[in-house]
Amino acid sequence: MINGGAGVAFIGSGSARVETVLSNDMLSRMVDTSDEWITTRTGIRQRHVAAVGESLATLAAQAATAAIAAANLPADELDLIVQATSTPDDLFGTASQVQAAIGATQAVAFDLTAACSGFVFGVVTAAQFIRTGTYQNVLVIGADLLSRWVDWQDRTTCVLFGDGAGAVVMQACDRDRLLGFEMHSDGTMNGCLNLAYTPKSVPLVDGATTQTGSFTPITMNGREVYRFAVSRVPEVLEKTLFHAGLTASDIDWLILHQANQRILDAVAKRLKLPNERVVSNMANHGNTSAASIPIALDEWVRAGKIRPGQKIAMSGFGAGLTWGAALLQWGV
Ligand code: ACO
Repeated sequence: MINGGAGVAFIGSGSARVETVLSNDMLSRMVDTSDEWITTRTGIRQRHVAAVGESLATLAAQAATAAIAAANLPADELDLIVQATSTPDDLFGTASQVQAAIGATQAVAFDLTAACSGFVFGVVTAAQFIRTGTYQNVLVIGADLLSRWVDWQDRTTCVLFGDGAGAVVMQACDRDRLLGFEMHSDGTMNGCLNLAYTPKSVPLVDGATTQTGSFTPITMNGREVYRFAVSRVPEVLEKTLFHAGLTASDIDWLILHQANQRILDAVAKRLKLPNERVVSNMANHGNTSAASIPIALDEWVRAGKIRPGQKIAMSGFGAGLTWGAALLQWGV
């Protein structure tokens, strides 16, 4: 246990390179769809899919290594790794594999599941350990390989998702750069978006029957999730800004979960934010679930667009249903 300052700083980011690209045209050779339909309905032009032999652990480790290098932090100085994912390589968790792969010998590591809200929830979770003085250096990873869990015959879902991993290093400091957060769940809408376990009865002996089964590919009520996102996301952002004593005009960058360009446009319009301040990379990546916010953050930081001291509003939303927002100031 290390005592640092009571505040949180965001000191480095990284993301993985997923080489294999699947364009809309390639998808239109697999299912009854077209580049025109996907582009106009979602803004997605291509997505990256993990190759045979790649895994959640290998991509998360790549993103993690890049983030700690950017933060100039030796891996063995990490105290905690929080890995947000819904697609672990192992249901017991994948964070420990990442801990070993990057040589974070002193860090405790665990997975956190909150679908596309996972990265925001992970950042908030990490901040609690830092603010209480428990840990000083925390790595938060958002990583998902939804390509391994979609039905590639289902045109209503397979065109949306891609694979990726991104990470950020958070560190104890005197002045708190996490300016506010909000998190919510509504389990009454759980059936709108699922990667559900389908059980099958297995008689063991007389008087004892159990169930074993497998997971069924993603199902989604797209219209319901769309309606939920365009109402709840601006609301949670406005509340978070209000509690931080800020308004949307104080925000330099809005980074939303990259689900659909139309959702980004609707949220930006409601907050009266010009498009130049809304980060969007979904044309290139599609919806990478828990990875989408940290990948977008890392791309904008590495391009020199996000600069130290700038204020970022992030919002994740998705299965659960879950949604949340975090307001932060980048850099030390
Ligand atoms: N290509 C061609 N046609 C298609 C395709 C496709 N890939 N997919 C659906 N269609 C058809 C439908 O069958 C339907 O045809 P019909 O009118 O003959 O029945 C028509 O297009 C319209 O379908 P809708 O579902 O109404 O299309 P919509 O405009 O709502 O767009 C979309 C669908 C893109 C999924 C949208 O609803 C959406 O983005 N929803 C939000 C998804 C989201 O945000 N998810 C985030 C969470 S993800 C997570 O947590 C893992």
